Amino acid sequence: MDNSSLIRSAIQVRKNAHAPYSGFAVGAALLCADGAVFCGCNVENLSFGLTMCAERVAVGAAVAAGKRDFLCIAIAADSDEVISPCGACRQVLAEFNPGLTVLSANHSGKVQKFSLEHLLPRASTGILNKP
Ligand code: THU
Repeated sequence: MDNSSLIRSAIQVRKNAHAPYSGFAVGAALLCADGAVFCGCNVENLSFGLTMCAERVAVGAAVAAGKRDFLCIAIAADSDEVISPCGACRQVLAEFNPGLTVLSANHSGKVQKFSLEHLLPRASTGILNKP
């Protein structure tokens, strides 16, 4: 799947976001090495702290389907600036591919590309004595 189709999937699933507290809907589409795509949207909760970001919802859907080999995640929000995944999502994404490509699109179609390595350097260094 090409980048623009992946971004379109993120824009589409964003419509399902449950974001009554922040009003900030986010969509994510995660591309696997075999070409499968798993989508997620943010799911907010009255407790605030239990809110799940779109990225982690997409990771959960993929892992539950038996996929762990991720190449790229596209995220979409209705913001002026392109967003980048929060710290928690960076760590969760790095669990599966520290070099994951992150594509982020804003409301006007501006797309920015990041490498997860750049967003979260040394993701696992020292944790459980990993090198
Ligand atoms: N959010 C995401 O789902 N992904 C991001 O990359 C940034 C933030 C959600 C969490 C919360 O529901 C809302 O956006 C505001 O932070």
